[in-house]
Amino acid sequence: MRILVTGGLGFIGSAVVRRIISGSDHEVLNLDKITYAGDPSTVAEMASSDRYHFERTDICDAAAVARAFAEFRPDGVLHLAAESHVDRSIDGPADFIQTNLVGTFTLLEAALAWHRERPCAEPFRFVHVSTDEVFGSLGPDDAPFDETTPYSPRSPYSASKAGSDHLARAWGETFGLPVIVTNCSNNYGEYQFPEKLVPLMIVKALRAEALPVYGAGENVRDWLYVDDHAAALVQVLESGYPGETYAIGGSAERQNIEVVRGICDLLDARPRQDLIEFVQDRPGHDLRYAVNTDHICATLGWRPSVSFEEGLARTVDWYLSHEEWWSAILDSRYEGQRLGSKA
Ligand code: NAD
Ligand code: DAU
Repeated sequence: MRILVTGGLGFIGSAVVRRIISGSDHEVLNLDKITYAGDPSTVAEMASSDRYHFERTDICDAAAVARAFAEFRPDGVLHLAAESHVDRSIDGPADFIQTNLVGTFTLLEAALAWHRERPCAEPFRFVHVSTDEVFGSLGPDDAPFDETTPYSPRSPYSASKAGSDHLARAWGETFGLPVIVTNCSNNYGEYQFPEKLVPLMIVKALRAEALPVYGAGENVRDWLYVDDHAAALVQVLESGYPGETYAIGGSAERQNIEVVRGICDLLDARPRQDLIEFVQDRPGHDLRYAVNTDHICATLGWRPSVSFEEGLARTVDWYLSHEEWWSAILDSRYEGQRLGSKA
């Protein structure tokens, strides 16, 4: 397949690119604007492959996106480009509206034009990669999210992703674009930008800085190792059904304080636990996310291969052995406004 990946220099997109180039015969065109979250070093080992191509492109640029479709002639799209950090969406929502809504609209229009141009016999799929945050916040005893859960986004980030999901499905229903939507839970693993909970806590603990846990640390997320998400996305593109939604998760619900304590334990126990500080809560902080993955397990045979404990240990090891990667970000180009200093 010829696969157009958007956002392939980000955390999950780069894991997808690495998986496709190293584990299949597919060809990739990676379109990425290289925002603060995009980093070419995440795919450096793939760059020499003649099956990997990159163009620095803003998905809101209709002419550039249309040109990419016409020249690359993709059989499928994996759309990951987005503004992805909830705290940034609270501090400044404009980029989220632009990329997540206008950018997705621009990409859908280009994909539709390309789909209409292709011979009918050649299958095409557009996989829109989304989040479980569009479903809102679960109570402690609620059933996990699944493909039928009504939308109830509560942050500017999740509202913009919810809107983009609706656009993608509308282009499927109204115009016949073969769209598939995935809604995944929290990812963690290598190359995650150190503004998200897991890498932020690892790098702060290594620097012996306070570990800012929002509220009482009781919010629950369902954690999935990034390579398992990448595997699910490739499988959905290869074998998923147009019009379907796939809920993806790790079946590994943990309170934030458990995650942070787990990182401290892996890093060397007691002294780091003392760095934990309970700070002012995130506004509108969703209490609990959990995902029921029965549908994707039953229909595509996908399941997570890495337990949370094993994945967290691998992630801590990776950050320990890649200090040059994260310290360069922290020292020079980290633009986080909410660097956990709100206490
Ligand atoms: P990320 O922030 O690490 O990477 C986003 C990538 O998109 C970056 O490379 C960035 O340069 C690029 N980008 C941003 N705006 C762009 C634009 N206008 N044009 C082209 N490229 C642009 O994000 P991530 O965590 O890898 O998330 C990827 C996707 O998966 C997002 O759609 C996100 O909503 C979704 N998702 C993330 C998680 C998670 O836990 N991180 C979970 C479920 C779903
Ligand atoms: O559920 C999927 C979503 O997971 C993705 O769609 C998002 O792109 C991704 O960023 C993530 O969103 P969260 O808001 O859940 O992730 P974050 O890592 O920002 O926060 C995880 C939890 O940890 C959340 O309850 C807030 C809390 N937290 C976060 C930070 C950055 C803290 O307690 N302290 C912090 O400093």
